[in-house]
Amino acid sequence: MGPREVSCATCHHLSAGYADGLDLSISVNSRGRASTRRFLAPNAIPFTQRTCTTVLNAAYNGMTSDANYTPSPAPMF
Ligand code: HEC
Repeated sequence: MGPREVSCATCHHLSAGYADGLDLSISVNSRGRASTRRFLAPNAIPFTQRTCTTVLNAAYNGMTSDANYTPSPAPMF
């Protein structure tokens, strides 16, 4: 378990379209949010291996081609 100092909005922030605007996301041992997030020094934690995507498309999760909305068969986590 981590130090519980990183919230969802650290990376999925309004200022960057609910993403972070970084090439690779930064998690713990850091300060700032979205594109202002930087590692503290000293640091042995690597960047994550993913680019942060917006969470806005999660609103469409469970939407069918006939415009029905049933999210329960399509959980994200
Ligand atoms: C350290 C940065 C970071 C934090 C903190 C974070 N995320 Fe993410 N999130 C990412 C990255 C990077 C991806 C893309 C992952 C991939 O492509 O495999 C992502 C992807 C997602 C997606 C998928 C979006 C899509 O359309 O595919 C959702 C939903 C999401 N995150 C929700 C959350 C929630 C909810 C939390 C808090 C419990 C959270 N995230 C915390 C970095 C972060």
